[in-house]
Amino acid sequence: MAGVELKNLSKSYGDVEVLHDINLSIADGEFVVFVGPSGCGKSTLLRMIAGLEEVTGGDLLIGEKRANDLSPRQRDIAMVFQSYALYPQMTVAENMGFSLSLEKRSKKEIAEKVQEAADALKLGPFLNRKPGQLSGGQRQRVAIGRAIVRNPQVFLLDEPLSNLDAALRSETRVEISELHQRMGVTMIYVTHDQVEAMTMADRIVVLNGGYIEQVGSPMDLYNHPATEFVAGFIGSPKMNFIKGRYAVAAGTTTLGVRPEHLTIGEGDDTWEGKVTLVERLGHDTILYVRVPDAGILTVSLNGQHNQNVGDTVRLRPNPDFIHRFDDQGKPNAADLVQGQG
Ligand SMILES: Nc1ncnc2c1ncn2[C@@H]1O[C@H](COP(=O)(O)OP(=O)(O)O)[C@@H](O)[C@H]1O
Ligand SMILES: [Mg+2]
Repeated sequence: MAGVELKNLSKSYGDVEVLHDINLSIADGEFVVFVGPSGCGKSTLLRMIAGLEEVTGGDLLIGEKRANDLSPRQRDIAMVFQSYALYPQMTVAENMGFSLSLEKRSKKEIAEKVQEAADALKLGPFLNRKPGQLSGGQRQRVAIGRAIVRNPQVFLLDEPLSNLDAALRSETRVEISELHQRMGVTMIYVTHDQVEAMTMADRIVVLNGGYIEQVGSPMDLYNHPATEFVAGFIGSPKMNFIKGRYAVAAGTTTLGVRPEHLTIGEGDDTWEGKVTLVERLGHDTILYVRVPDAGILTVSLNGQHNQNVGDTVRLRPNPDFIHRFDDQGKPNAADLVQGQG
């Protein structure tokens, strides 16, 4: 196993720089998730670590060794892609053992390694099937198994669950987390889905436009977003951003309030609005409330509530959980000073 270090790493295609000055230290055994919107550079960064894209600036270290110029094979990493890229004419066992047979390992060793991975991934009953006879989720597990048998120092996964339906996605998410705990191997996982990032990561790296916006534990990012972008990206339903009449404090141009930090109340510290839509989820009720001068605010109430479209309600923001951003999208400096006291 090994840690990974990125030092002032950058990537250009011709004149166009798509990743800028990336600095990051990933500890041995850590589960790190790169998350961000489509096109922000997640796959490019992962492929640079894998050795599938050339590093055009800075240094990449794997296990404290400079790896910029090592071939993918020399880096001792394994990568799992969104498209499973299995050989259709080979059985599950042959697919999983293929890289070992290329290395001329003994039949016995290959069979043992494949069996071990198949047990870990509950693929035992399918070893003699072809990929075409498997479900999407089973195929993705074979792709993961093929990576496991190589016993890599670092595991790289690029949106491995994107082709699965919602139920299978959350099931496989749990399996990958368990696998990480059992193997204790360094994993770097790319996704555009903040729920995957929040549920799986030890640490999340939020990328935006080729820059790192913030690095932190899921709760760091939720509680202390370093930018308005992170505040809006992490959390579901999304944080409300309010400009105008309610954002009056000096230096604050935008208030951020998460839907779960708005409750129905009475009194001077509430905002009046009209319900425009209600989503009843059973465990939660989501209200969309049009508040004059603030826009339509999302309110997430625990449990079941009887508000209806057209009702007038008063919303109370929990004062302990209001985020204030300046015109640069940074937390209001005055708040930060107070926060330190
Ligand atoms: N081979 C390439 N040539 C030129 N630009 C590329 C190439 N691959 C990716 N890019 C650009 O790099 C940026 C990051 O892409 P990518 O890493 O695939 O984003 P993500 O995985 O976050 O969706 C995008 O603007 C994309 O257009
Ligand atoms: Mg990608």
